[in-house]
Amino acid sequence: MSAITSGVSQQYADSSKLAARARLHREFSVGEPWFPWVMDRLPFAAGNSVLDIGCGPAWFWAGSEGHFPPGLHLTLADQSDGMVQEATERCAPLGFASVTGQQADVTALPFADASFDVVIAMHMLYHVAYQDKAVTELHRVLKPGGTLAVTSNGAGNLRQLYALTTVFGSPPIDPAAVAFGHERAESLLGAQFGNVTKTVCPGGLHVTDPEVVFMALTSYPPGDRASDSELEAFQSAIATAFAAGGGVLDVQKDAALFLSRKPG
Ligand SMILES: C[S@@+](CC[C@H](N)C(=O)[O-])C[C@H]1O[C@@H](n2cnc3c(N)ncnc32)[C@H](O)[C@@H]1O
Repeated sequence: MSAITSGVSQQYADSSKLAARARLHREFSVGEPWFPWVMDRLPFAAGNSVLDIGCGPAWFWAGSEGHFPPGLHLTLADQSDGMVQEATERCAPLGFASVTGQQADVTALPFADASFDVVIAMHMLYHVAYQDKAVTELHRVLKPGGTLAVTSNGAGNLRQLYALTTVFGSPPIDPAAVAFGHERAESLLGAQFGNVTKTVCPGGLHVTDPEVVFMALTSYPPGDRASDSELEAFQSAIATAFAAGGGVLDVQKDAALFLSRKPG
């Protein structure tokens, strides 16, 4: 198991560690705002049944209010009970016809065949060891004619930041892209559904606070298990990068949405 597929239950017991990364994106993103950008590309019709698997704290839904039709029947599922609880509480007031929370593993979904019009798996398949089994399950629970939406990061994602994390002994690349990058997403979804479209979200980060970079990149592996001397080296690498940019660090993002339609 790689670091990104092990220790997931501790990492996501609640949203506190994820919040450190979210802060970096919330405060310093430039270009298209991610959550509404994704939502605007989902083929919802009023009254649809929707599964969001690996929903996390459901910031996706709260962050794109007004971009989805009222009256959806939303199922929020995650392998973390803490996330399911936070997600259902957050979504309760957002104008859904129903909100259901369910603890679930994407490789063994506790739902009947053909249950959902739209299934969403955002930034979560890189945590899964058996991704082909997960995609088979996502396909199984979709109705014929339904749509699967998957998001993940590509090899260029945050490369100016991952260049700094080499002090932890890791390669200068987003571990999410290594575990489930854009080529892997296209090939797995294409093989299961016979169709897949990829759209890259334009945007980046214009970061003016080095401390937020430090907090974000030490909230998950390998930074969250770094030694004191590695952390010191990381602080110093961040300081050097900000000094080179005159107090600013511009960072490239490389996140994409993959849509596949189940023939029906
Ligand atoms: C990076 S967060 C993404 C949260 C949300 N989808 C988003 O994009 O904001 C990954 C989430 O996937 C969940 N997760 C990881 N492995 C899972 C699995 N095998 N089955 C279901 N959920 C899983 C984690 O508990 C976590 O809440």
